[in-house]
Amino acid sequence: MLQTAADPATTTRSPRLTVIGTGYLGATHAICMAVLGMEVLGVDVDAEKTARLAAGEVPFFEPGLPELLRKALDSGRLRFTTDFEEAGAFGDVHFLCVGTPQTKGSDAADLTYVRAATAALARHLDRPALVVGKSTVPVGTAAELTEMLHALAPAGTQVELAWNPEFLREGFAVEDTMNPDRLVFGVSSPSAEAVLRAAFAPVLDMHDTPVVVTDLETAELVKVAANSFLATKISYINAMAEVCEATGADVTALAKALSYDSRIGGKFLRPGLGFGGGCLPKDIRAFRHRATELGAGQAVAFLGEVDAINRRRRARTVDLVRELAGGDLSGVRVAAWGAAFKPDSDDIRDAPALDVADALQRAGAHVTVYDPVAMDNARRDYPQLRYATSAMGAASGADVVVLLTEWTQFREVDPQLLGKVVRQRQVVDGRHALDPVAWRAAGWTYRALGRP
Ligand code: UGA
Repeated sequence: MLQTAADPATTTRSPRLTVIGTGYLGATHAICMAVLGMEVLGVDVDAEKTARLAAGEVPFFEPGLPELLRKALDSGRLRFTTDFEEAGAFGDVHFLCVGTPQTKGSDAADLTYVRAATAALARHLDRPALVVGKSTVPVGTAAELTEMLHALAPAGTQVELAWNPEFLREGFAVEDTMNPDRLVFGVSSPSAEAVLRAAFAPVLDMHDTPVVVTDLETAELVKVAANSFLATKISYINAMAEVCEATGADVTALAKALSYDSRIGGKFLRPGLGFGGGCLPKDIRAFRHRATELGAGQAVAFLGEVDAINRRRRARTVDLVRELAGGDLSGVRVAAWGAAFKPDSDDIRDAPALDVADALQRAGAHVTVYDPVAMDNARRDYPQLRYATSAMGAASGADVVVLLTEWTQFREVDPQLLGKVVRQRQVVDGRHALDPVAWRAAGWTYRALGRP
């Protein structure tokens, strides 16, 4: 058995943590662990990012996190560096939190950053340590990284690898990290499990968090299996929306009726424009790709349909706007409400909202976008679109208003007041966020996916 947990340094005090990759996942993990009392060193190759974090600035939008960063820095338990040598010297447990985006031109996950981070760290591991993968990876990656660690680390096989998938949701990242609904420890030895329990002691002491201990492969799979299930649930209700459209039935009432069956439940059963973001879309594609490599492609072939249903919702939303515009989008003024892939986030990765706004623009419409927090990111990636500084401003003179991200401020708009600034009272509710009765009563033509 490996002797990771027997390192004298870790038996007498809490393990010291490094968090490699201080993006969304890593920054949240580093900040929350420091607030919970652990000594943490955040490591990133991006010096600007570490400098901003060290100065108390969270480089992305996440409710509650800026306050916790300040608290963690003030405690003296959180620092940031770009130096992997410092990381190796400091840490007993090293969390790998770098991104695994979709590879350009392929459905596979791009493991460049995971491999680079592991190699950079390994060269400085000259005493027993536990490296813990948190990134979402294709099954089999942990085995590959284990070999890499043993080959490159001066401490050789005294460096062990574990996998601890992360399930945090953007917008709820703090809550999900401080009080996760489960912890999964993928390990190859009881000593690795003991080190992980010590690393998560503040969470485990505070809550009755279920811990599922598995082998490395199962831990890798748990994450993609969870995200695939969630994506499937969303696409399931959106497939029902397509059938509703063919029959005149109402998918929101259908979803409500289904949700009361406790075996089905109402969560992730909200129909509409579908899923986007940096996780669900790329994870189902990478999972299918990896399963095919392993000869199990048939088992998850349905994920291709889950993806296709999801894409069709975007196309159908464009169609609804075109129908309201009388069949031709040329010169039609469209107010696009929302850019982020979901509310309470400034993340625009694979954002359905911007995909639809861009498609409308390419079809000849003049699109003006407004989002409460994602404007800078949207402007950077979609400079061809126009941007307004408020929801009302975007809607001014519009022929069609299309709600694409269900921010609370859009839900609360008074349709009477909005009616005074638009050219035509026509709305497409891409997220079932508005009350059709109130909007129709205010003289609006209201259309939504899967509703008569
Ligand atoms: C997702 C998972 O929910 C997390 O558990 C996971 O840790 C994370 O991916 C990840 O892999 O890191 P996130 O991408 O933050 O989290 O967003 P979700 O809340 O899952 O929403 C994903 C998309 O589905 C959004 O575009 C949302 O608008 C859409 N959605 C969600 C629906 O269209 N309908 C629903 O009923 C729920």
